[in-house]
Amino acid sequence: MATLISIASGKGGVGKSVVATNVALALAKAGRRVLLADLDVGGADAHILLGELNPPVTLTDFLNKRVHRLTDVVIPISLHPNLRLIAGTGETLATANMAYARKKRLINQFQDLTADVIVIDVGAGTNYHVLDFFLMADVYVVVANPEPTSVLDLYRFVKLAAIRRVVASFLSRHPLSETLSVRDFSSVEEVLDVTKGLDPDGHDIAASALRSFRPSLVVNRSSNRSRVNVLYLRKVLHEYVGGDLLLLGEIPDDPAVGLAVRKFLPIIEADPESPAAKALVALSTGLERLVTEHSERANKTQEAVFGGAPV
Ligand SMILES: Nc1ncnc2c1ncn2[C@@H]1O[C@H](COP(=O)(O)OP(=O)(O)OP(=O)(O)O)[C@@H](O)[C@H]1O
Ligand SMILES: [Mg+2]
Repeated sequence: MATLISIASGKGGVGKSVVATNVALALAKAGRRVLLADLDVGGADAHILLGELNPPVTLTDFLNKRVHRLTDVVIPISLHPNLRLIAGTGETLATANMAYARKKRLINQFQDLTADVIVIDVGAGTNYHVLDFFLMADVYVVVANPEPTSVLDLYRFVKLAAIRRVVASFLSRHPLSETLSVRDFSSVEEVLDVTKGLDPDGHDIAASALRSFRPSLVVNRSSNRSRVNVLYLRKVLHEYVGGDLLLLGEIPDDPAVGLAVRKFLPIIEADPESPAAKALVALSTGLERLVTEHSERANKTQEAVFGGAPV
């Protein structure tokens, strides 16, 4: 089974796609079979950052049912034989306002994709699509810039993702609860209030959903002048939301990134000696560790459930 890594942010334009494409290529170079899925349904551009300007098939072909299986829109990327892509397009409003059934069909078909690692660029914002794409992964990555607005949006994003994760764990036990699936919650307490009569184990369900919620933070475009107070952010999140935030890495603000984007190449390919490229490679090594930890945990669970028998 592939390990899924989702990459999101509260605010747009902070560097998600730069991180997603470079991490995907770095993991491919490290020997993993990688699939990058561009689920930024509003403004997909991962294909451009990888030099694939006119992808022959895209996610839109799957969403509009021109092809029936998600695996049929996977294309090779010439930069590396281990790297493949599901290109997004998302010019049409129909795609941006994807209906629930289409989204469900998309999420379900991720199980049929073959790869060691699937990197998902989920796009910016906090709408349900973004939160659900983010939460379908095994390893969560959030990107922010050091500006106060970006950090605030990041806090809001992580908070809403944590609430949605709690709601999702209730829904998996009570799939027919309409109230839960369509309601906007502003805190975990509010979810517990609404579910009080529904499930006597409410507190335990919420606590376990939050305990295992530990997104990794990437601070992009950092400089000596602007830094994020990660310790403070972590404390506030822990106190008011639950869950934890790990600092995975910092990428310096580096003009070489913009130059690489203009060459339609990931920076680790265009300028491997640049400070940003080195930071992105280090970040990918950290992510690889999280992927290994996740697959070891998944194997142990499988062994415990099936006694090591092949399934
Ligand atoms: N570390 C960096 N140093 C300098 N410039 C950077 C850095 N990271 C990203 N950029 C610049 O920021 C631009 C936006 O990055 P990117 O497209 O990855 O953001 P995004 O979060 O995916 O945006 P969107 O929300 O629109 O999808 C890039 O085109 C690049 O020029
Ligand atoms: Mg992007």
